[in-house]
Amino acid sequence: MLLTEIDHVAIAVRDLDAAIEYYEQALGATVHHREVIDSDGVEEVLIKVADNYIQLAAATRDDSPIAKFIAKRGEGLHHVGYRVGDVAATLKSMIAAGARPIDEEPRPGSRGTTVAFVHPKGNLGTLIELVQE
Ligand code: CO
Repeated sequence: MLLTEIDHVAIAVRDLDAAIEYYEQALGATVHHREVIDSDGVEEVLIKVADNYIQLAAATRDDSPIAKFIAKRGEGLHHVGYRVGDVAATLKSMIAAGARPIDEEPRPGSRGTTVAFVHPKGNLGTLIELVQE
């Protein structure tokens, strides 16, 4: 098994501060980490749940993937982050099994992680992010 843990479940939101306030009020959540990832046009927060995270992600510009997702489908579940020991090896294994990479090579993610996204098509309709700490 190449996966070691679920790293995060990512939810696309229109208004990050409103989403945080909702999670605080509804669930007593506290923000563990907040970061703008310029290259992806996203601002995200991580809410820690045991050793895993819920990620709330909002677009920072209109042409970002999160903005396009929300325009098409509204707010909601966006992707699942799978924690792996080796992003490159896992990506290679998934491609060999028929998955389509969005990132051909592992690249830097938030929190200093190394990541690669895998397209929903050919992957059971699910956008997956491979995350190596
Ligand atoms: Co993610």
